[in-house]
Amino acid sequence: YDVGRRQIVYVMLPEHAEQLHRAENLYPCRMHLEPWMAYREDRRQKPGVFLLNGPEWRYNRLQLNPKVLSPKAVQKFLPMVDIVARDFSETLKKKVLQNTAFPLMMTLFELARNPSVQQALRQESLAAEPSISADPQRVTTEVPLLRAALKETLRLYPVGAFLERILSSDLVLNNYLIPAGTLVHLCLYSMGRNPAVFLSPEQYNPERWLDSRQSFRHLAFGFGVRQCLGRRLAEVEMLLFLHHVLKSFHVETPHREDVSLSYRFVLMPTSLPLLTF
Ligand code: HEM
Repeated sequence: YDVGRRQIVYVMLPEHAEQLHRAENLYPCRMHLEPWMAYREDRRQKPGVFLLNGPEWRYNRLQLNPKVLSPKAVQKFLPMVDIVARDFSETLKKKVLQNTAFPLMMTLFELARNPSVQQALRQESLAAEPSISADPQRVTTEVPLLRAALKETLRLYPVGAFLERILSSDLVLNNYLIPAGTLVHLCLYSMGRNPAVFLSPEQYNPERWLDSRQSFRHLAFGFGVRQCLGRRLAEVEMLLFLHHVLKSFHVETPHREDVSLSYRFVLMPTSLPLLTF
């Protein structure tokens, strides 16, 4: 495709993601976001790793990894996250809420319209509760089906609809030679709904992720050294929220039809599904 004056190659298969990953050098590069950079410069704010590229990106990223992405760093944030997750669940006990956090809300929506999946997750959470309440970190190992449900939500509703890389060297993808410097988009939304990659992709079926042969299929947080910096924190936060909610509530929805989505830099639902607890 030629979008504006920029050529973009679109790919949507796990094996192409794997090839892109293998071709990465020390400085995986995304597009320069000029208006965003100008906005921050104007306010004398630093750009942050999301906007940087090259050696400056790597220098900052290596400083941040131990403070944000490492399991040790996540453990430091956990008590706080657990209190907020419990508090959220307590608030729900008082009123009906429309949650605005997109993957959480879409998980609850899918569980509301798939009651048997919801029930399986509740059983898992109730059984794991003594262990998780003794140490919230255990939420990452004690509720595998819930972990799988988050992957399943992000397959259908990837917050970032596509990943991007500017190639640092020539690459052959699907027999096409793509020159260095070309922008490649890996379309997560299309991959997640492709029946050649996921059997019956329209079905919300967390169990599909329990099969270990799923490499380069769960890419909602990106891949390689440039993957999402907040990944571990986001995962643990979502797991704890859902764990606490599932223990205490049955989630229902009067609207079972698909929610339509629109792209506003991130992929968002056009209207919020109504959920009752
Ligand atoms: C469900 C929640 C989230 C999703 C699905 C998500 C997804 C992503 C994706 C797809 C990327 C690009 C990765 C790549 O190019 O390979 C990214 C980058 C990033 N994310 Fe997240 N993210 C989430 C939550 C968070 C949170 C909570 C934080 C902050 C604590 C965060 C901070 C970042 C940063 C700083 C980058 C840029 C990393 C870099 O360029 O080195 N994200 N995220």
